[in-house]
Amino acid sequence: MDHFSYIDGELCCQGLPLSEIASSVGTPTFVYSRSTIEDHLRKIQSAFSDINAEIFFSVKSCSNIHILRTLLEAGAGLDVVSMGELHRAHLAGARPDQIVFAGVGKTDAEIRAALTSDGGPISMFNVESEPEYEALALAARSLNTRAHAALRVNPDIKAGGHSYISTGQSGTKFGVDLPHAKTLLRKFNKEKHLPLTAIHLHLGSSITSPEPYVQAVKAVLDMIAELRAEGLTIDTLDLGGGFAADYHTGDAPSPDEYARALVPLLKPLHQSGTRILLEPGRMIVANAGVLLTRVTYVKHAANKKFLICDAGMNALIRPALYDAFHFIWPTSVSPQHEPNRRADNLDMPGLEPCDIVGPLCETGDFFALNRKLPVVARGETLAIFTAGAYGMSMASRYNSHPLPAEVLVEGSAPRLIRKRESLHDLTQHELEIPVPGTPTLRVGK
Ligand code: LLP
Repeated sequence: MDHFSYIDGELCCQGLPLSEIASSVGTPTFVYSRSTIEDHLRKIQSAFSDINAEIFFSVKSCSNIHILRTLLEAGAGLDVVSMGELHRAHLAGARPDQIVFAGVGKTDAEIRAALTSDGGPISMFNVESEPEYEALALAARSLNTRAHAALRVNPDIKAGGHSYISTGQSGTKFGVDLPHAKTLLRKFNKEKHLPLTAIHLHLGSSITSPEPYVQAVKAVLDMIAELRAEGLTIDTLDLGGGFAADYHTGDAPSPDEYARALVPLLKPLHQSGTRILLEPGRMIVANAGVLLTRVTYVKHAANKKFLICDAGMNALIRPALYDAFHFIWPTSVSPQHEPNRRADNLDMPGLEPCDIVGPLCETGDFFALNRKLPVVARGETLAIFTAGAYGMSMASRYNSHPLPAEVLVEGSAPRLIRKRESLHDLTQHELEIPVPGTPTLRVGK
């Protein structure tokens, strides 16, 4: 599943003890396993190889440029949703044809940047509305360039692990419904500067069954057949992301299970020359990363035990925002406490229930409540698992905590891929602006 495992009571990433990284780099730190990223990508590529599906990694899930470079080197493209992500894709070395651009609110500046990348326009824009299509077409026309667009269809299918990340239902801000999609595809299919010849779906995230994809694909296959019969060109189907990851052991179907349900449906489309794209994020990186955090205090209060950590919702907001489960375990345990699976509560002697919380001034700042763990002392390190997706990419400086460091383990060697922020980093943009009446502002450094 991934390359994090206990060896003689020590949690290791590709054989490297994580306590060594915690000692040398400090905490909080995200640690990623390169082999896991590569294995997960390879499994998706091979599961969908019969239809030659192209994988565009969803940058929002984990956007460090070194991770993006790893994925590009392993044969993925990148799915971006902002000027910042486009910038990251360029820095990571992506060619324009390795980039697709999604998102409901592309600004004129973002559109222009994506149309004028060095080497030509990006591979495809995923368009969410008629006004957005018009803004894109106008920009392509005025730059006298030609770009390729997909229309995001909202098939009104419920899917996804939490209402905040379910996007394929009518009433959400995403895509257009099927009847409107047909109208727009007919209207703009032959447009010179921006032919609308592709279809995009993204039903939601953490979708733990292939069934919603099957329903959605069936709906768009009917639409594609109808439009092709009218003489329209439909050259690409992008199925979006959403494949689940194992937060608990056994939560998620394997890439093969999704593929078994989808490949037979999509094969005729592939045989008719249609490109098939996927935009997974979580399935590739979630279990390729852990967050290391140190226990600052063990506090007993109200008949409870609190492990107060140096990371909080500033570093990993998922439990606070989505009530998400993350498996948490100390990085160093006695051999009898090596976990054999990732679950809410393991059945072992000598565990004690505790609330694992951050240092921030909100009751919602917790990673787990009433979770049984081996007894840990002040200064020990915990690993928060499955933190590679939507961990660092959603981290903030709330309560003025500098952003965590990031380390990528390659072979058995750790490589720092993002330095821990300093106090200077925290305030640098404020320091550029003099405070009236203060001759010199001395903060940080
Ligand atoms: N494509 C599009 C158009 C998307 O909006 C997303 C995710 C993906 C691909 C990748 O989805 P994935 O394969 O990673 O499920 N912050 C939330 C997840 C938000 C997902 C947003 N869109 C979380 O922590 O669960």
